[in-house]
Amino acid sequence: MAIWTNPLLLLYLCMWILLPCQTYISKCRVMQRKADCSHMNLNTIPQDLPEDIRVLDVSHNRLVELKPLSLTRYRSLEQLDASSNSLKGVPAGLCQATPELWRLTLCHNEVHLLQVRDLRNCTRLTHIDLSDNRLKLIGEPFLGTENLVWLDVSRNKLTTACLGLRPQLPSLETLILAGNDITEIKKDDFNFLNKSLSFRMLILSYLPLKKVDHGCFKPISKLQDLVLDGCKLNSMFLSRLCEELSDTLLRNLSVRNTQQVMLTHSTFKGLEKTNLTILDLSNNNMARITDGTFEWFPVLEYLSLEQNNLKLLTNGTFFGLRSLKKLNLHLALTKTHSSALPVIDDFSFQPLVQLEYLYMEKTSFREITENIFYGLPCLKELNLGWSNTGLKAISNTTFAALKGSPLLQTLNLTGMGIKSLGPGAFSNLGNLKILVLSHNFIYQRLMGEEFQGLNNIKEMYISYNQQMITLTSTSFIYVPTLTALMLGHALTANLDIEPSPFQFLINLTMLDLSNNNIANIKNGLLDGLHHLSVLKLQHNNLARVWKNANPGGPVLFLRDTRNLTVLEMDYNGLDEIPTLAFQGLSQLKYLSMSGNLLNFLHASIFNDLRSLLVLRMQKNLLTSVQRETFRVPLSNLTELFMDHNPFDCTCDSMLWFHTWLNTTNTSISDRDKSYICNTPSVYFNHSVMDFNPESCKDMVPFQALYAITSTLVLSLMMIAFLVHYQGWRIQFYWNILINRTIDVSDSRYKRMAECRYKYKAYIVHAQKDKLWVERSLLPLEDNTFRFFLEDRDAMPGCSTLETIVDNMRMSRKIIFVVTEALLNDPWCRQFKAHHALYQVMEDNRDSLVLIFLEDVAEYRLTQSLMLRKGMLKRRCMIQWPLQRERIPAFRQKLQLALGSSNRIS
Ligand SMILES: *[C@@H]1O[C@H](CO)[C@@H](O)[C@H](O)[C@H]1NC(C)=O
Ligand SMILES: *[C@@H]1O[C@H](CO)[C@@H](O)[C@H](O)[C@H]1NC(C)=O
Ligand SMILES: *[C@@H]1O[C@H](CO)[C@@H](O)[C@H](O)[C@H]1NC(C)=O
Ligand SMILES: *[C@@H]1O[C@H](CO)[C@@H](O)[C@H](O)[C@H]1NC(C)=O
Ligand SMILES: *[C@@H]1O[C@H](CO)[C@@H](O)[C@H](O)[C@H]1NC(C)=O
Ligand SMILES: *[C@@H]1O[C@H](CO)[C@@H](O)[C@H](O)[C@H]1NC(C)=O
Ligand SMILES: *[C@@H]1O[C@H](CO)[C@@H](O)[C@H](O)[C@H]1NC(C)=O
Ligand SMILES: *[C@@H]1O[C@H](CO)[C@@H](O)[C@H](O)[C@H]1NC(C)=O
Repeated sequence: MAIWTNPLLLLYLCMWILLPCQTYISKCRVMQRKADCSHMNLNTIPQDLPEDIRVLDVSHNRLVELKPLSLTRYRSLEQLDASSNSLKGVPAGLCQATPELWRLTLCHNEVHLLQVRDLRNCTRLTHIDLSDNRLKLIGEPFLGTENLVWLDVSRNKLTTACLGLRPQLPSLETLILAGNDITEIKKDDFNFLNKSLSFRMLILSYLPLKKVDHGCFKPISKLQDLVLDGCKLNSMFLSRLCEELSDTLLRNLSVRNTQQVMLTHSTFKGLEKTNLTILDLSNNNMARITDGTFEWFPVLEYLSLEQNNLKLLTNGTFFGLRSLKKLNLHLALTKTHSSALPVIDDFSFQPLVQLEYLYMEKTSFREITENIFYGLPCLKELNLGWSNTGLKAISNTTFAALKGSPLLQTLNLTGMGIKSLGPGAFSNLGNLKILVLSHNFIYQRLMGEEFQGLNNIKEMYISYNQQMITLTSTSFIYVPTLTALMLGHALTANLDIEPSPFQFLINLTMLDLSNNNIANIKNGLLDGLHHLSVLKLQHNNLARVWKNANPGGPVLFLRDTRNLTVLEMDYNGLDEIPTLAFQGLSQLKYLSMSGNLLNFLHASIFNDLRSLLVLRMQKNLLTSVQRETFRVPLSNLTELFMDHNPFDCTCDSMLWFHTWLNTTNTSISDRDKSYICNTPSVYFNHSVMDFNPESCKDMVPFQALYAITSTLVLSLMMIAFLVHYQGWRIQFYWNILINRTIDVSDSRYKRMAECRYKYKAYIVHAQKDKLWVERSLLPLEDNTFRFFLEDRDAMPGCSTLETIVDNMRMSRKIIFVVTEALLNDPWCRQFKAHHALYQVMEDNRDSLVLIFLEDVAEYRLTQSLMLRKGMLKRRCMIQWPLQRERIPAFRQKLQLALGSSNRIS
């Protein structure tokens, strides 16, 4: 291991073992003048932090005491969090030690007695959190904290809201008294805030309040926000409270979870004089709201009735809410198993003349009647998502009343159990921009008229519809303004439609066709969609259309979508990408192809993807990442996901990628653990990062050696072949060359040699052909032109061998009369031929003439006479003609051959 070989490291290790205290460095995380020392089991404030820290977090430790001395080091400290320790008190002098402190958090401790001297000199303090202690105030501890803005004393078992007798806390804005044991608010309790002119927020949540004295809120009449969540306020007490609040500036009242059962006309009467704008009545299990309950709120803008148990809304429920902008009815009307379905009367929302947002998610009511949404001239958004209304089919009357809402832009009908859309279903919603029909059960062929009248529609969400929607060429003929169309998990598998259903959507920028098992598409599916930017095709079955073997070639459906920036094709079973699939996609920034079966990728397929920022190819079968394929797409990448491929960690497959991984700035999650080699066995199950590029450098000499040896072997093989098949030719020319170089000077002798010939030619023939020779050759003789014929001219008495040798020498040419008989004649074969050849070579003479009386195969010639046709000039091989009239031509040829020079040219 490196540690044992590095002496410095070793030394350090020893020091660390021997001198643990001296070299101790606190493990607080310090960043930008913030020190985080939480969860460290500390019992003192660390003294080794940078002196200039502004924020110190020592929460969740074992501090029992905060010694001011331990903080004097950090003079710039502005925020101190000592929550969740075991502090017993706020130490006197804390603020002297930290003069810049403005936020002090001491919640979840055991702070008990709090006295004036504890917070003395804390003039800069603006925020104190003392919640979850067991405070007992001695005297007037907050008298000195004149700049305090925010004070939290929740859950301290305080029994009174009174934190002092004298007016103090002149800057206080927010007081949190939640979760204490305060049962009543007495008349003078808030007198200490008498001079707090900025006071505006009081949080009294989860108090066991029973009683409020008359005039108790008078000292804080500037109060704007009051939170009473979780208090048990029956209807009587609530109206009593409202009366007490009537002289305040209350704007925002939250009474969530206060066990209201029913609101009556008089409940909020006391708030008539206030300008309440926000009222939150959620989580109250409320069953009834009497007509006119809200008539006291002419300027209310937001009303939440979320999570109640209302059974009926009538035309009087919202009477008087003429400024209301948002109404939240999420889960406000519910059906319990014992009760009947709640009812929303026609014209219920008519009073809401300013309403812009109506949220009715997860409401249950009997039905959407024709005039339920009557009125609502300012409505912008209606959300009925997951509501239970028994709506099965949307006809042209369902939303007819919304004709009176010309500003309606968003209609959300998610998860309503809709099964079909009738013709003109949305024909009254001419200004609708967003229509959501996801998570329904729509089962039909979309002919186009379903969307007729949606003249300004921009986005349609039809995803998650049980894959029962069939598109036709005209499906979107009436909605050419669409920019986003979501059809994920909605369509039947066949999209093989011509012309394309999307042909009209010239402004489409986003198309989701994912999760549809689409297997068939045509080249022209996306033609004309020049603005298409995001295309989602994951979880389909497009492997076949991208195969080269696909009848008609691979379907290049991206050929016209030049502005594509996001393409998702994960989980399509793809094992091939056509060479031209991504041609021209120079804007593509995000390409996701994970979970396919991609193995081999053509070198140039990604070459146009110059803008790519994110590439996802994890869980494929990639073995190598080659420079030729990936150089362009990886060059400007910010994020790469290519893990879980069976990488082949050999120099050939991985060297370039390994180098790239080591040098790139691209973010690659889990680079060390998820990029694993599958082969070769040395690297099996090792990280790609373990691959040793040095091993490739050693390869260079080996490669040279390999190149040399392989060339050598190849040339040897070549030579062997050459020698085997053409050896005779080489030998032949070699001999000639040798002879010529030896004889070249001796040309005089040559000329003389011409004179030594006694015969024109020596005729070699088989005995059987004697007759032919006599008949056809001998007539050519004259005084100067004589043949040597063994039978005729051999000197009787001389040995046959000598005769042959001598006479061949004295003949200018040697004629072989080639027939099968000659080839089979051993005498002729063994000696005459040999000698003839010997003569040829010896004299460097091109003196052979073959006369073929029969067709003879080349191999026979070679075998018997050691001759090849290629050795002879063409004119020295003459065929005896079968036709009589050609015989003169034969003679002509023969004479030419016999007359030709013996020199090799
Ligand atoms: C602390 O406050 C006291 C009076 O309350 C004052 O005399 C003293 O000067 C203050 N000390 C500092 C450091 O501000
Ligand atoms: C309510 O608003 C009106 C008009 O803005 C204003 O004149 C009136 O003083 C406000 N009343 C309260 C109690 O805030
Ligand atoms: C509410 O409807 C009833 C009939 O259902 C009608 O008599 C009453 O006038 C309507 N009230 C308002 C405020 O429109
Ligand atoms: C439609 O409503 C559903 C349910 O409330 C919500 O989840 C979804 O985000 C909404 N869709 C749009 C596009 O607003
Ligand atoms: C609704 O469609 C029917 C035929 O399907 C037609 O007779 C009727 O006039 C249409 N109503 C509206 C308001 O368009
Ligand atoms: C497409 O968008 C352009 C520019 O936003 C707009 O002018 C044109 O009318 C749109 N075409 C359609 C059919 O909506
Ligand atoms: C889309 O590409 C075309 C060229 O094919 C170009 O004219 C047009 O401006 C592009 N549109 C967008 C929105 O990028
Ligand atoms: C990378 O981006 C820069 C500018 O963003 C561009 O000039 C360069 O051509 C890109 N690289 C490749 C290989 O396309």
